[in-house]
Amino acid sequence: MGKKLLVTGGAGFIGSNFIHYWIEKYPQDLIVNLDALTYAGNLENLKSIENPPNYKFVKADISDKEKINEIISSEKPDAIIHYAAESHVDRSILGPENFVRTNVLGTFNLLEAARQNGNIRFHHVSTDEVFGSLGPNDAPFNETTPYDPRSPYSASKASSDHLVRAYFHTFGLPITISNCANNYGPYHFPEKLIPLFVTNLIEGKKIPLYGDGMNVRDWLYVQDHCEAIDLILQKGKIGETYCVGGNCEKTNKEIAYKILELMNEGEEMIEFVADRKGHDLRYSIDSSKIQRELGWTPKTSFEEGMKKTIQWYKENEDWWKKIKSGEYQNYYEKNYKDR
Ligand code: NAD
Ligand code: DAU
Repeated sequence: MGKKLLVTGGAGFIGSNFIHYWIEKYPQDLIVNLDALTYAGNLENLKSIENPPNYKFVKADISDKEKINEIISSEKPDAIIHYAAESHVDRSILGPENFVRTNVLGTFNLLEAARQNGNIRFHHVSTDEVFGSLGPNDAPFNETTPYDPRSPYSASKASSDHLVRAYFHTFGLPITISNCANNYGPYHFPEKLIPLFVTNLIEGKKIPLYGDGMNVRDWLYVQDHCEAIDLILQKGKIGETYCVGGNCEKTNKEIAYKILELMNEGEEMIEFVADRKGHDLRYSIDSSKIQRELGWTPKTSFEEGMKKTIQWYKENEDWWKKIKSGEYQNYYEKNYKDR
């Protein structure tokens, strides 16, 4: 047997893509997927790999300190890859408390458990949103950009990044951090911009564009993010942070028009709606450190990634319709409870 990886948040969007990626590339390794199955967790994302001997699911909440310590001391993983988080900015505006509980306290509990069980290698998956909001002509974020989070979501992620770094400096915990741009691709929960727009159009519904649609995000196909984390785990320098981006800045309006074009729909399907509170204007990432030091480069172009993503949502209507109806939340009860 190879290494044992404990992946938190593996039933979510990026975590499940990472588990598929890892199991295919390193079949000798064992993945323990630790997830609380919040509204964002969906074990159907992992349906095709749920039975092999190299994969195991553990239902647990990272804010439960004792349980997390118990799991980590019994599993003794070689590495923890920490994806679990409350991840949606709009939800953090409606109810910030869960963001502090999971993203700050939950990360703290994992760090403590990693420290108390033999200084386990710890990779923390974070976001470019910790750096704040750029003006139209500002230089992209990089690893030295000062933190300036502006939503409860980004503030909670920033806090967790600081804790992770503190555990390196104070206790010598072997950590790395990645701050990544906006991901898109399969298994993306249809509350986020791209999957919401694609699934709405399939259902014949309009697509809600916040404000004037001129906010800018940097987009990266999720598989490219998985490859970046793989490289950081294999070759990343302990204690270091790596910024990961797609070099693909688009306004939300451009995204909307690209989706309309690829789905043969007209601009009458756009509905301008009230803006997000405190809406960050622009994110952009300078990935030159990970490109230079680890040889990473994004492989999927925006055009190709968008085509693949739209095709995936067309072919997997059952997956997202169960989410939109709420039926997906019965999957664990039906298929896992008595295991
Ligand atoms: P997601 O919301 O799709 O998934 C989050 C997962 O974490 C879910 O499976 C959920 O059940 C689980 N979870 C939530 N609270 C938990 C708790 N208390 N205990 C255990 N599990 C819990 O998120 P995502 O988009 O896949 O993002 C994964 C990580 O990557 C997050 O840390 C996020 O901040 C970061 N990130 C996301 C993006 C992006 O574009 N989606 C970009 C950069 C960084
Ligand atoms: O930058 C990385 C971050 O990207 C991650 O850390 C977050 O977890 C992830 O959710 C994402 O955050 P955003 O807020 O950028 O993603 P979202 O898909 O919610 O919104 C993208 C942009 O689209 C943003 O400017 C708001 C806008 N938007 C969003 C929705 C859901 C709309 O115009 N209409 C919508 O309905």
